[in-house]
Amino acid sequence: MLVKKLKETYESLNEQEVVLQGWVRTNRKGKGLGFIALNDGTTFSNIQVVYLEGLENFDEVSKISLGSAIEVTGKVVVTPEAKQPFEIQATKVSVLGLCEKDYPLQKQRMGFEKMREIPHVRPRANTYYAMFRLRSVLSMAIHTFFQDRGFVYVHTPEITGNDAEGAGECFTVTTRSDDKYEKDFFGKHAQLTVSGQLHVEPFALTYRNVYTFGPTFRAENSNTIRHASEFWMIEPELAFADLADDMDCIEEMIKYCINYCLEKAPEEMAFFEKMIDHDCINRVTKVANSTFRRMTYTEAIEHLEKAKGQFENNDIFWGMDLQSEHERYICEKIVDGPVFLIDYPKEIKAFYMRVNEDNKTVAACDLLVPYVGELVGGSQREERYDVLTQKMADLEIPQETLQWYCDLRRFGGCKHSGFGLGFDRMLMYLSGVQNIRDVQPYPRTPRNLVF
Ligand code: 4AD
Ligand code: MG
Repeated sequence: MLVKKLKETYESLNEQEVVLQGWVRTNRKGKGLGFIALNDGTTFSNIQVVYLEGLENFDEVSKISLGSAIEVTGKVVVTPEAKQPFEIQATKVSVLGLCEKDYPLQKQRMGFEKMREIPHVRPRANTYYAMFRLRSVLSMAIHTFFQDRGFVYVHTPEITGNDAEGAGECFTVTTRSDDKYEKDFFGKHAQLTVSGQLHVEPFALTYRNVYTFGPTFRAENSNTIRHASEFWMIEPELAFADLADDMDCIEEMIKYCINYCLEKAPEEMAFFEKMIDHDCINRVTKVANSTFRRMTYTEAIEHLEKAKGQFENNDIFWGMDLQSEHERYICEKIVDGPVFLIDYPKEIKAFYMRVNEDNKTVAACDLLVPYVGELVGGSQREERYDVLTQKMADLEIPQETLQWYCDLRRFGGCKHSGFGLGFDRMLMYLSGVQNIRDVQPYPRTPRNLVF
């Protein structure tokens, strides 16, 4: 029986026999009896298995090491006066796989850094155990949110022939040891995608509302706590939508995901609150019930100018690319919550963003949140063929490889907008876990590829 099912039905199973499999989280022997905290992976909290001296292999059971896989046959006993609502009184305990002495997860807590060296066992440590279920729950939240609203899920390619969008450095995909890409597998230079956006836009001009959700790759050599070389991104694209519609969608999605995770992963969220970020549930609940502020880049620069001197980089001027410390100042000190920064100078944003009337700024929005900084980046897309191609020329982006993208503007193009949500950063935001390496099962960052 799965422990999850047992927890839901234990009252009706009182005094009945069940068979459970799982892993030993703790095993303590008392006088004439012992206790095993068993976890079978289906719920966050363990259940208590009690074994008495009368048990045939009592000595063997009392020596079962932490981490071992076992099968327990026993009676469900409802214990209204105890800490846990029920326990299992074992009649038979079999060892399925003993855990050997060099098992790295022992009783004393291990630091995050050490844990990153053992991605094959760390999911069994509480923080990761909670995180990787939350990852699964949040994935479902995303899909449910978009599917309920009729968005079509599009699988954009991981291997691309585009230089994409200048969003970052690309990884080359090759089977050669030289760089003669014309003789390579695809007969041309191929790369791992940095974003599915350009490939998803044609589908928005077909199905109206679409989204991608998959891994993206960036070879930026930025060794920070919020950048990974492989990360997951959700990229919705909405036809007949402007920047305000885009932001409405982002805001609704973030709130939906928060509520979904609080409802579907309550034990995990309670764990994060207890062990990682003591204000986490309150913090995200407040966000779910708030209205996100919208502020222009120009206003943000005014705030930053007033705070000059407080930053590592104090060279504040209109036109600068905001660094993480500046973004955090705006959302943590000025707003104290999520804030959309909009209308960025066109020079510091991607070529496809729609140029505003002022001809200086673009219809872009970055959602900044406390602790994490940039959580979402979005924009209204430039739908005017001439403006788009002129901009590409100005930025020296070769038009031939992106002619298909430009052509969308000639083949029934329309106003449209979209955004990218950093999935891993959303997990950091929900849990309060500070390093992206601790929200991904197998993090990939510069000079770090464990397994
Ligand atoms: O702002 P970015 O680069 O936007 C795009 O890629 C657009 N094509 C999105 C779109 O409009 N469809 O990335 C979007 C989000 C960021 O806000 C951030 O949350 C996350 O992706 N992100 C990263 N997360 C982890 N590691 C990295 N190296 C990241 N780079 C961006
Ligand atoms: Mg961005």
